[in-house]
Amino acid sequence: MDGVAIVTGAGGGIGRAASIKLSQAGFKVVAVDFNTMTGEETVKLILEQGGEGMFVQADVSKEEDVERYTKMAMDAYGRIDVFFNNAGILQKFSLIEDLDTSDFDRMMNVNVRGVFLGLKKVLKVMNGQGFGSIINTASTAGLRAEHSMAAYTASKHAVIGLTKAAAIEYVRKGVRVNAICPGGVDTALTQSVPMMMQESGYTPEEFPNMRLGRFAEPSEIAEMVVFLASDKSSYMTGSIIVVDGGLTL
Ligand SMILES: NC(=O)c1ccc[n+]([C@@H]2O[C@H](COP(=O)([O-])OP(=O)(O)OC[C@H]3O[C@@H](n4cnc5c(N)ncnc54)[C@H](O)[C@@H]3O)[C@@H](O)[C@H]2O)c1
Repeated sequence: MDGVAIVTGAGGGIGRAASIKLSQAGFKVVAVDFNTMTGEETVKLILEQGGEGMFVQADVSKEEDVERYTKMAMDAYGRIDVFFNNAGILQKFSLIEDLDTSDFDRMMNVNVRGVFLGLKKVLKVMNGQGFGSIINTASTAGLRAEHSMAAYTASKHAVIGLTKAAAIEYVRKGVRVNAICPGGVDTALTQSVPMMMQESGYTPEEFPNMRLGRFAEPSEIAEMVVFLASDKSSYMTGSIIVVDGGLTL
């Protein structure tokens, strides 16, 4: 495979693993992250293994930043084959009645507005090209509630809604849009949970059940991203793919 892939949240667990696997599959990778240090590290790893790529610092919730990373990808490589619309954050465990409105807004800004803005800018390019594959990162929290995570749950349900809406609008335009729903993945996001509980002094009544007895490795999620990026998934659009080790059973 060749072509160009934009990955948001490329400095983190799933985004970094997907960036590396997309590079190994032959894509030039435009690695986007809020965090310059970790984003540049991802590009370094890609270059070290003989791949090609560049880093763009951006906040996915800001329209001008999203415009910039899309433009920089086009200026550098002239096309966007794949867009892994992945950056996202987790909320603090909290009952709805105690949830700060500002935390709710933050969650919506990054997890929903960020995904929407990415779709808006990249779909325009892909529609013009007549081809492209977009993979949004939802979550099993997009399919059912995660206890004490109302804002996160709502944000990931919205990602699934946006995925289906985008898929149907572009279904005959050569652009496919799918979403992945990881369960628990061993990344900084899940590693922050014990500290979050300590800080808030609150523990949810229920935890997600890792039926396989472990979290996923980010690379196990990245395999699905590469599949959805490739023509091997040519008849898939609007699909919501669960990769959760049986968590939602
Ligand atoms: N880890 C899990 O168990 C799990 C499960 C289901 C879904 N997810 C989703 O997977 C995605 C990636 O999560 P992860 O586990 O790799 O987390 P992570 O924290 O390791 O990585 C997320 C990356 O996104 C970046 N980021 C955060 N806000 C940003 C912003 N506004 N603009 C640009 N970049 C930003 C961070 O700097 C970080 O590098 C998220 O959407 C998350 O909700 C994770």
